[in-house]
Amino acid sequence: MTITESSAVPVRTATKRTVLMCRPEFFTVVYRINPWMDPALPTDTALAVRQWETLYQTYLDLGFDVKLIDPIDGLPDMVYAANGGFVIDNIAYGASFTHEQRQPEGPAYMDWFRENGFDVRDPQNINEGEGDFLLVGGRILAGTGFRSASNSHEEIAGIYGREVVTLNLVNPSFYHLDTAIAVLDDTNIAYLESAFDEASLVKLRELFPDAILATEEDAAVLGLNSYSDGYNIVIASRAKDFERQLRERGYNPIGVDLSELLLGGGGVKCCTLELRS
Ligand code: ARG
Repeated sequence: MTITESSAVPVRTATKRTVLMCRPEFFTVVYRINPWMDPALPTDTALAVRQWETLYQTYLDLGFDVKLIDPIDGLPDMVYAANGGFVIDNIAYGASFTHEQRQPEGPAYMDWFRENGFDVRDPQNINEGEGDFLLVGGRILAGTGFRSASNSHEEIAGIYGREVVTLNLVNPSFYHLDTAIAVLDDTNIAYLESAFDEASLVKLRELFPDAILATEEDAAVLGLNSYSDGYNIVIASRAKDFERQLRERGYNPIGVDLSELLLGGGGVKCCTLELRS
């Protein structure tokens, strides 16, 4: 008897993405605004740049259109471009950062959006952009608990006219939604159950009954902080179980090592802001 296991694996489709990134020329850890950061530990900025270049090259190899924003001296977290805003339908909702150390990044990103032809909306509420807002198909998943305020969820519902699902984050190590959920395509996600409260888990289970459930080990290397084009999924190379699960489901995981940027509490997705026109 022949078992044609592969026939059960769905065919996935990649679509070309346009993303914004920021080279970590001024990356370091000099303050602590999440549990990953320890200013007493040394950082190697040149290594951070080299690792980031690998991610950048991976996106170019996938055929992505990668835009760059100039890094600013004195803003060491600016490399985490996902926090710079949220962009759908050419409308860029600006970020308004929780911690004063990152606040100047909000206007810097908004200037870039304006100069590059986006319709910029000045935020009325604290929010950290695509760190806490994830588009899955037509729906926006929105995180709160540590950074983005829940009234920013109402604000984006009004701006984009889409359904917004509020999810409460409960573990300080997974302080942004993009550290606890990976968007795989228009209908599928992966997530870390222990990062959410019970009410949020009820919503996630109902909306995504076939979701991949990540292991604590993979989440602990920010394995979920990944970026997908619908088929190719760029992930932390150390997230081995996640890699296996993605492969089983017909995706093509591509591992990169961003160990230096992990010292700031960020990974692949944090370095990536999708620009949707
Ligand atoms: N050090 C940064 C902060 O705590 C890391 C941001 C990570 N970004 C993300 N999208 N999860 O704000």
